[in-house]
Amino acid sequence: MSKIEGIPILSSEGSVLAIPMFILHHLQNSAQQHRIVSISIHRLKVSDMDRRRFIQTATIAGSSIAILDHTTLLSEDNQREQKPLSLARNPIVISTWDFKLPVNETAYGILNKGGRLLDAIQASINLVEADPTVTSVGHGGYPDRDGRLTLDACIMDEHGNAGSVACIENIMHPISVARCVMEKTPHVLLVGDGALQFALEQGFKKENLLTDQARAAYQEWLKSDEYKPPVDEKNHDTIGLLAMDTEGNLAGGCSTSGMAWKVHGRVGDSPLIGDGLYVDNEIGAATSTGLGEACIKVAGSFLVVESMRHGKSPAEACQIAVERVVQKQPQYKDIDDFLVGFVAMNKQGEVGALSYRKGLQYSLCKEGVNKVFDADYLIK
Ligand code: GLY
Repeated sequence: MSKIEGIPILSSEGSVLAIPMFILHHLQNSAQQHRIVSISIHRLKVSDMDRRRFIQTATIAGSSIAILDHTTLLSEDNQREQKPLSLARNPIVISTWDFKLPVNETAYGILNKGGRLLDAIQASINLVEADPTVTSVGHGGYPDRDGRLTLDACIMDEHGNAGSVACIENIMHPISVARCVMEKTPHVLLVGDGALQFALEQGFKKENLLTDQARAAYQEWLKSDEYKPPVDEKNHDTIGLLAMDTEGNLAGGCSTSGMAWKVHGRVGDSPLIGDGLYVDNEIGAATSTGLGEACIKVAGSFLVVESMRHGKSPAEACQIAVERVVQKQPQYKDIDDFLVGFVAMNKQGEVGALSYRKGLQYSLCKEGVNKVFDADYLIK
């Protein structure tokens, strides 16, 4: 048998096959450009010992191997059996809540055409930010106790890059500014006036985002609540979105106007990497919703990803984070409507979601179909 420098893979029938390095390079380049690739491979005859060693190597080789799970493998000497080898897998998009907008479908459509994760995530979240009827994100969001609408957002890519903005005003799409922070500065987080100044320099338009409805709700709140910021969950949802592309890479983003009637300057979990969002492309990704203060105190999304790193399923990992919140801060149990919750996806494309109490929904788009689910919850 001639020696071939290559990466071993295991066919669906259990035989070990090897992709020669030169084909692998071509394949990786092609996969980036076209997503779908047809190749031929050399079939090797190997002993059981070789087979075990090959499998070990393949496991170490990691994600480039994992994407071969839908493949039909070809033999050069049996041309009649040849079918295209598809390196592509279906994208998966999961997001918090049901915003009654084509949020996941937008990201899915971009990814399914081979588009970039960040483009997909940004386009989806932009939809929610621009909708004046969503009172917890972007345009139409409820203001703080001074009547000022301040926005938080962050984004994290498959390479571990991150960008965020906090307490930014008058900019419709904070997730897009967060992406600019990531791509155009050496920083991760810009806040307040600095974030606004940067956004304007980047060509974003200054706009009044406070709707008549939000202003009226604020006037109503002022009448009865004596300028006291709330600690419950009313009027308070975040769009957090996680996506897997056709190559099995993970990224995510989130955006919110934060807690309605908050103290001016308050920043929640959403723009904080590790709290509102965390992505480790080798392990999984998580995002949070609910009372930001509760999530921040346990580094919630980071905890979910770390739990997945230690072998927990996405659902189990979300439960660990929610349990940690009330274990460390039991006073939250006494707050009516207290809610904190997480949505997660692992590297295998499995998803999970769990909140403290009933009420969290999540939307999942798989194989081209988007469905809304009620998340599991801790307090039955
Ligand atoms: N989870 C969003 C916030 O607390 O601001």
